[in-house]
Amino acid sequence: MLTSPDFLVPDREWCERRIPDGAGRPAADFFYSSMLGTNHGAHDRLRRLVVRELSARRVAALGLRVEETVAGLLDDFAEAAADGADADFQDLVALPLPVAVVGDLIGVPAADRLRLRQLGDDAGRLLEPVRSPEDWARADRGVSGLREYFTALLRERRARPADDLASALARGQRTDGAGESDGAGLTEGELVDILVLVFAAGFETTAGLLGQAVHALLTQPGQWALLRRRPDLVPAALEESLRWDGPVPMTERIAARPTELGGLPLPAGASVITVMAAAHRDPEWFADPDAFVVGRVDGRVLGFSAGVHYCVGAALARLEGAVLLRAMLRRFPELRAAGPPGRRTGDGLRGFTRLPLTV
Ligand code: HEM
Repeated sequence: MLTSPDFLVPDREWCERRIPDGAGRPAADFFYSSMLGTNHGAHDRLRRLVVRELSARRVAALGLRVEETVAGLLDDFAEAAADGADADFQDLVALPLPVAVVGDLIGVPAADRLRLRQLGDDAGRLLEPVRSPEDWARADRGVSGLREYFTALLRERRARPADDLASALARGQRTDGAGESDGAGLTEGELVDILVLVFAAGFETTAGLLGQAVHALLTQPGQWALLRRRPDLVPAALEESLRWDGPVPMTERIAARPTELGGLPLPAGASVITVMAAAHRDPEWFADPDAFVVGRVDGRVLGFSAGVHYCVGAALARLEGAVLLRAMLRRFPELRAAGPPGRRTGDGLRGFTRLPLTV
């Protein structure tokens, strides 16, 4: 489904016909004109710019900054966990790390990050497969607040450019040193919405992966010890965690034309929820799918989706996860889970609200 031309993402025209509640809402206006809610040429135009800015080279250049951020957050965590106390890993590390990294990428000053974290959390309600009136209200609040913030940031960077994504977009130039104009001719509103999307898509997802990977490694027998002996398995452990308990369990597609899925006829325009988490536990794809097996080679992990909407931040999320796990294995060899974690509500994103650990 994710790679077939018979399926598209629901776009603005579909939203107007099928979600009358969305009309005039900032959150619907944002989502159904963003990369996640556009197809074909409209999608390519936005995506090309962001893919270039999140190139492998730019992500690698963030590596040192990610190391420093991880070291600082693990100092805070070590302090909270001193003398055998339980420390909340989600609140102290898993959430602040991607907020700081995506904040550095975009150019958000550290002092503003906590406020943006709340707005991003509200905007995340857009990922619910069925949005309640409360989800819409929160998503509107989040999107409006983030739009206001990033409009001001773009204005500021236009006046005083720095080496970050906001400045690159403000200038309409690339930041990888080539200095060419992007020529995409994006409007101010489109540039603001790109920053809103990169920010909102970049932190809660990654926070989910970091918390769930650590939790899986600590609660599945022998896995933390395995990684201590074999730190080279860290990337494979992240991949298995993405499969076993990934942050984005599902996404939505619309039949572009009359088609068929698993023998079920679908009319054009039919909405289908694509549950990647179910594919990840499909015994025809993965042997013994409920077992957490680092380094398994069967099946294909769809945690970052597939096809033209494949996550543009996948390399950055993997980098954050690898740097963090390696540092934790070194610093906290005796790390243990300390009681049950709390989970966020909703179906669109999986993540912990609380993850108590002891060192
Ligand atoms: C573990 C962390 C992450 C996970 C699990 C994740 C997951 C996903 C998934 C499943 C999609 C595609 C949805 C679909 O096909 O309908 C997606 C798209 C996207 N992601 Fe991520 N993501 C993560 C981190 C990030 C980061 C760090 C960034 C940015 C810095 C980011 C930016 C985006 C953007 C802009 C899109 C839209 C791409 C498009 O529609 O063409 N993501 N992500």
